[in-house]
Amino acid sequence: MQITLETKPYAALETGALVSYVFEDADPIQGTLAEINKSVNNLLSKLSAGAEFTGKPLEMTLIHAPAGLKAARLLLVGAGKRDKFDVATLRKIAGAALRYLKSRSIKQLAFLVRENDLNEDSAQAIAEGVITADFETDKYKSDKKNDKSIDSVVIAGYSDQDKAAGEKGLTRGRIIAEAQNFARDLVNEPSNKLTPRILAEKAEAMAKESGLAVDILDEKRIADLKMGALLSVAQGGPEPPRMIVVTYTPATPPKPGAPVIGLVGKAVTFDTGGISIKPADGMEKMKYDMAGGATMLGVMRALSQLKPNVKVICVVPSTENMPGGKAQKPGDIQTAMSGKTIEVLNTDAEGRLILADGVHYAKQLGATHLVDAATLTGAIVVALANINVGVFGGSDQSWTDKLLASAKAVGEKMWQMPMDDEYREFIRGSFADIQNIGSGKGGGSITGAWFIREFAGDTPWIHLDIAGTAWNDDAKPWLAKGPTGVALRTLVNLATSY
Ligand code: BES
Ligand code: ZN
Ligand code: ZN
Repeated sequence: MQITLETKPYAALETGALVSYVFEDADPIQGTLAEINKSVNNLLSKLSAGAEFTGKPLEMTLIHAPAGLKAARLLLVGAGKRDKFDVATLRKIAGAALRYLKSRSIKQLAFLVRENDLNEDSAQAIAEGVITADFETDKYKSDKKNDKSIDSVVIAGYSDQDKAAGEKGLTRGRIIAEAQNFARDLVNEPSNKLTPRILAEKAEAMAKESGLAVDILDEKRIADLKMGALLSVAQGGPEPPRMIVVTYTPATPPKPGAPVIGLVGKAVTFDTGGISIKPADGMEKMKYDMAGGATMLGVMRALSQLKPNVKVICVVPSTENMPGGKAQKPGDIQTAMSGKTIEVLNTDAEGRLILADGVHYAKQLGATHLVDAATLTGAIVVALANINVGVFGGSDQSWTDKLLASAKAVGEKMWQMPMDDEYREFIRGSFADIQNIGSGKGGGSITGAWFIREFAGDTPWIHLDIAGTAWNDDAKPWLAKGPTGVALRTLVNLATSY
């Protein structure tokens, strides 16, 4: 799909559909829409009088052969109340318009930005919206709907004056959305097509293409480094684990002592639960248990093109969690790379085990500010459903505040959870330093976070529990069912605004 910015007057654009948006105002037909209304012989006024055309969120009004326009169709998308309108709404509108037109076998669209929104952020949001909306999960379907694909998108409405800003936004939006789709593509792969070794190969290929440094630790090096927590999960199945390390170093070397961001992502390519096996119903979804790792690799891909002035180290521990004959058993005591001993009370709480070694290794490689992302707990789905990412911070609230500000700036919903010291008691070990689940007092996502925090120590650290938000159980008008690529935009913003 080609995306360009065009300064030609919108009436002269030859395209399958000219798309714009309408606010839910007392009089929705204002500004550019008033002009369009004139050219279509007041058809919009007539529709508006009949309550068919109100501007309610994502309402679609498709007009064929609009008079006075070169476009074959005019599509007006409801944008809701004007005072609630923001780039997040614009991103959804652009995505929903693309999916609406694609399902009708329309090949091109031109998205007309309204008079007050002709800036860099709008072009970025539209590019992100259409590219992420275009992503389909039909890779393994024989009857791919090839006739249903959008060939080109034009962003319109910009003049020669604001063109440069628009193009800058378009480029940034393209980089971010393509990275998001890269991550979603990894998450969509079933576990027989994406083992830890294959994930490592794909990460290596991406890094080499992107000019990023890459180091793949195989099972031998993992054992040499005594990553006992990662190894304990991997021992349950025949697939060897991998520790994937991808590093971005800015062209102008940062001053000594400058912060180094460490991004650690959980990549369990399939989570059966191990000996504490999961119920069969819905287990197929556990192919997505590597979404945290995929997100972090996607972030690195975007950063290689956006070139921020900060060093970023990405560490992705990857394994399957299988209940084989050699699998670890409840009660087993493991020694993590840091030297801490862990009593494994539930082998299904494996994400925190592999992150323990991932976080410790990221620190050893020089990370001074950590973020981990993981599909860590079912408990976060209970707490926040599929709406908000759960955010857990360490003692440095200013680091957490930076991330929350980035989330807000890019329109990703994230909610900070409590991390009082009292919760730490829940994972105090009876027979080892710590135990990998809380002692039956609830707060499952918080005890998971506290476990990881034990390995971050005093290093500023944030944990993102994306178990509820990394996968869309139902398609949205602007996004296919399946992987969402959540948190990528926030982390890209965090690294590029540092
Ligand atoms: N990958 C799961 C998290 C998960 C569970 C995501 C259900 C979505 C739905 C994780 O490894 C896990 O199994 N966590 C356990 C932890 C428990 C044993 C303390 C969970 O949440 O049930
Ligand atoms: Zn598990
Ligand atoms: Zn898991």
